[in-house]
Amino acid sequence: MYSQAKVIAGGLAHIPVVIAVFYFILTTFNKRALKFVEASKTKKTEAKVVEPKKIAVSKAETAKIEAPKTDTTKLVKKKHADVPVNIYRPKTPYEGTVIENYSLLKEGAIGRVNHITFDLKDSDPFLNYVEGQSIGIMPAGEDANGKPHKLRLYSIASTRHGDDFNGNTVSLCVRQLQYEKDGQTINGVCSTYLCDIKPGDKVKITGPVGKEMLLPDEEDANIVMLATGTGIAPMRAYLRRMFEATEKEKNKWNFKGKAWLFMGAPKSANLLYEEDLQRYLTDYPENFKYTKAISREQQNTKGGRMYIQDRVLESANELFNMIEDEKTHIYLCGLKGMEPGIDEAMTKAAEEKGLNWSELRPQLKKAGRWHVETY
Ligand code: FAD
Ligand code: A2P
Repeated sequence: MYSQAKVIAGGLAHIPVVIAVFYFILTTFNKRALKFVEASKTKKTEAKVVEPKKIAVSKAETAKIEAPKTDTTKLVKKKHADVPVNIYRPKTPYEGTVIENYSLLKEGAIGRVNHITFDLKDSDPFLNYVEGQSIGIMPAGEDANGKPHKLRLYSIASTRHGDDFNGNTVSLCVRQLQYEKDGQTINGVCSTYLCDIKPGDKVKITGPVGKEMLLPDEEDANIVMLATGTGIAPMRAYLRRMFEATEKEKNKWNFKGKAWLFMGAPKSANLLYEEDLQRYLTDYPENFKYTKAISREQQNTKGGRMYIQDRVLESANELFNMIEDEKTHIYLCGLKGMEPGIDEAMTKAAEEKGLNWSELRPQLKKAGRWHVETY
C-alpha cells in the first residue's frame, strides 16, 4: 500500500530527472542551432570571398579592353606575375656546376671579361628564369669579419633556353673589378672568384631576381638598347631571342620590330659578342642596327672620349621618331656613371624634336617602356 506521503515523495524524486531531460533537450537544440548559425556564417563568408574575386577578374578583363593605350602600368604588372623570382635564397642556394668559363676579349683589350655558363639541370625546384633577369652568386670563402661573403648580382646573358638551347643552363658576362688603392691593386672578391673558376667547380647560385628589364611580349615592339661594357649581358639575351636561328625555333617569338644597340667599350678588342652581332646584322639588316662608341679609339665632337651618349645625340632625330612610337622600349644597362650623361643627351635630343625629356621620361617609365639597370 502506498501512503500519500510516499506518493508525494516519489513524485518529488522525479523532478530532477524531468529537469535533466528538459536541460538535455535544450542544450542539444542550442548546439544544433549554434552549428547552423556558424555554418550559415561560413557560407556567407565564403560567398563574400568569391564574389569580389569574380568582380575583380571581370574588372581586369574590362580594363584590358577599355584602358587607354598609354596607361599600361597595371597590365604590365599583371603580366609579370608569372615571372619566376627567388626560387633559391642565400640560406639555401643552388650549387651549380661550371660548364665553361672563357675570355670574351681580343688581343690588346683592357682588363678581364669572361663568359661563364652554369649547369642547372639538377636543381630541384628547377631554377628557371626569363630574359632580362639576374642571378645572385655567393663567392666561396669569408670576409674580413670571418663571415661568409654576401651575394653579388649578375645580369643573365643567356635566353631561358640557355646557350645550348636545352633549357638547363644559365650564362653570365663578368668583368673582373680591379682598382688601385694606396699603390696596391685590389681585386673585386666575387668578380675575381668568377673569372677564376674552372669547369667542374661548384658555385652557390640564388635567384632569379628582377622584373625591370623584361622584354615586352609584342613581336612588333621596337627595342632600343644602351649598354656599356658588361651591360651588354641582358641585351645579348634579347638579341639571341630575336635573331639566333635555333633559339627562334624554340621560342616561337617572331620578332618583327626594330632592335637598335648602342654599345660602349674602351677599345675594339673589348667589344663583346662582336661576331654574333655582325652575323645578326648580315641576317637581319631590316631589323637590327648596331652603333658603337669606342671611347679610347674614337673622339666626340668636343675632342673627348666617344661615349654612347655622344652617339645618342648624333642619332637624336631617328631615335626620337622611334620613341614617339608607343611600341618602342628603351633599355639602359651597365655603368651607373653613364646615367647623367644619357639624361643630358636625351634632354638635348628631345629639345631638337620640340619635346621635354624631364616630362617624357617619367611617362615612359610609367608606361613600362623605360628600363634601367645600372651598377
Ligand atoms: P667587391 O669586392 O665587392 O668590391 C666592390 C667594392 O670595391 C665597391 O663597393 C667599392 O667599395 C670598392 N671599389 C670599387 N671600385 C673602386 C675604386 N675604383 N676605388 C675604390 N674603391 C672601389 N657585374 C658584371 O661584371 N656583370 C654583370 O652582368 C653585372 N650585373 C649586375 C646586375 C645588377 C642588378 C647589379 C646590382 C650588379 C651587377 N654587376 C655586374 C656588378 C656585380 O654585382 C658586382 O658588384 C661586381 O662584380 C663587383 O663585385 P666584387 O665582389 O668583385 O667587388
Ligand atoms: P672609358 O673607360 O674609356 O672612360 P668597360 O666596362 O669594358 O670598361 O666599358 C665601359 C665603357 O663605358 C668604356 O668605354 C668607358 O669609357 C665607358 N664609360 C665610362 N664612363 C662613362 C660614362 N660616364 N658614360 C658613358 N660611358 C662611360
